Amino acid sequence: MNEKGINLMHIESRPSRLNNQEFEFFISVDTSYSKSLDEVIEGLRTEISGHVHELSRNKQKDTVPWFPNDIQDLDRFANQILSYGSELDSDHPGFTDPVYRTRRKEFADIAYNYRHGQVIPKVEYTAEEKATWSTVFNELKTLYPTHACREHNRVFPLLEQYCGYRQDNIPQLEDISRYLQSCTGFRLRPVAGLLSSRDFLAGLAFRVFHSTQYIRHQSKPMYTPEPDICHELLGHVPLFADPTFAQFSQEIGLASLGAPDEYIERLATVYWFTVEFGLCKQGSEIKAYGAGLLSSFGELQYCLTDKPKIQPFDPAKTSLQKYPITEFQPIYFVAESFDDAKERVRRFADTIPRPFSVRYNAYTQSIEVLDNTQQLRNLADNISGEIGILCNALRKME
Ligand SMILES: [Fe+2]
Repeated sequence: MNEKGINLMHIESRPSRLNNQEFEFFISVDTSYSKSLDEVIEGLRTEISGHVHELSRNKQKDTVPWFPNDIQDLDRFANQILSYGSELDSDHPGFTDPVYRTRRKEFADIAYNYRHGQVIPKVEYTAEEKATWSTVFNELKTLYPTHACREHNRVFPLLEQYCGYRQDNIPQLEDISRYLQSCTGFRLRPVAGLLSSRDFLAGLAFRVFHSTQYIRHQSKPMYTPEPDICHELLGHVPLFADPTFAQFSQEIGLASLGAPDEYIERLATVYWFTVEFGLCKQGSEIKAYGAGLLSSFGELQYCLTDKPKIQPFDPAKTSLQKYPITEFQPIYFVAESFDDAKERVRRFADTIPRPFSVRYNAYTQSIEVLDNTQQLRNLADNISGEIGILCNALRKME
């Protein structure tokens, strides 16, 4: 039961009223964070030949959607993708290329078989793939000094130094994941296809970013209809090495755990207008920090012109904004700073109807659901320990 996320709350045995040679067992379980109850009941029925009866189910608790409790639980998403990597739409540049499609299947298989804790398999990229990367890398690099936010520009040379970011080399996810872990605890996980928003956002709660590993089709190096390794490595990765941005991203993920569907959609929209297409103030200027911008030569230039509409980032409003996915954005939202954006997401998260609060425990890499006094006491102990360290350090500085 434990591995299915089901907690045994109570068990008692009574002599059977029908046959005094037998016993009846009454079991009470908490299934708030599992969707496997039916599976477990079925399993018991097969094992004990049908003498299993469900007496009652607390419907209110069942209304909280399942979410991963432990970082290992992210393995369950691997088989729940909305489309598999080699299934391309008819207008995809690689649709009629059998070699490209076979290659996409290889990448999808790596991700499909990946489990938490394993080393992400290294990929030998072909000469064509490297040439595509090289074009994208060179073009975008010319824009970063003037268009990208300072955090991106601070990290980029470090990725060149430590992770093999070069125009003639496509960096490996495993090397980047290790480097990110040393900076902010963020890690990469290969993904076989499109995840639901709920699953994708849940990964962020554990500081896990689901990343593609394949590259766009060589016929159109400056265009991709979907995320690819250029988008992930040039757009997303540099920011995940920044501590404040990492925390901001995790806040969106934590807010999503157990949230109702309508709020998942709103959080996915917040994610879209920040992590994907966000702009931020830096001194008297506005710069790009969204990965969709930092990985698109055309849109990175366009977003800082006076053509699009600019509005201040405010999750309550931003989360309701409609957006196109196949053309440049008509509206961008500008954050005052990553810290300010994080605080705003936290306040927005407070408005999400959930019967509990959550907290990430980085030591156990699991989610603590703060819905009982024991959990709150543990949290109070932790905080008091940290305050002790702070007071001590202040005294020593005096
Ligand atoms: Fe992205």
